[in-house]
Amino acid sequence: MSMSRSRNSRLPPCPWLLLVVFLVSEFPSNSYADVGTSARYAPPYLPTTCYGGEATQFPSSNLFAAAGDGIWDNGAACGRQYLVRCVSAEQPRTCIPDQSIQVKIVDYASSAVSAASAPSTTLVLSDKAFATIANTSAALINIEFQQV
Ligand SMILES: *[C@@H]1O[C@H](CO)[C@@H](O)[C@H](O)[C@H]1NC(C)=O
Repeated sequence: MSMSRSRNSRLPPCPWLLLVVFLVSEFPSNSYADVGTSARYAPPYLPTTCYGGEATQFPSSNLFAAAGDGIWDNGAACGRQYLVRCVSAEQPRTCIPDQSIQVKIVDYASSAVSAASAPSTTLVLSDKAFATIANTSAALINIEFQQV
């Protein structure tokens, strides 16, 4: 008994090694994505900080967003496109599995005409955009996002 225990304790830390290998192998698929949060907002969407009252600013898909302070970049974010995926939320099963969207930044979250469903998020998604990746009962989701 004591011998097998001492043999066990001299084993290399295999579980740790496996964990490291697992983490490294999982990483490449997400290496360009950042994590953040998203709220949603509803019409009216005009005017926006980026394009004023120009109705043609919205992509025909209606997948667009207002940028939070983290990505607003002093207005340089206007027109940027982001791939967004819902990863989790407080309520289980909020995220719609295997859905991602591409949104265009048209506004600054802090000055958008309509209030966001939650404050201080990375991206405030149009109602269409939010509904494509998550249950709209949620006010706040955790996201993975990357600029396209
Ligand atoms: C969305 O979330 C609400 C509240 O958690 C739940 O009652 C409803 O069934 C959910 N809808 C879907 C389609 O999962």
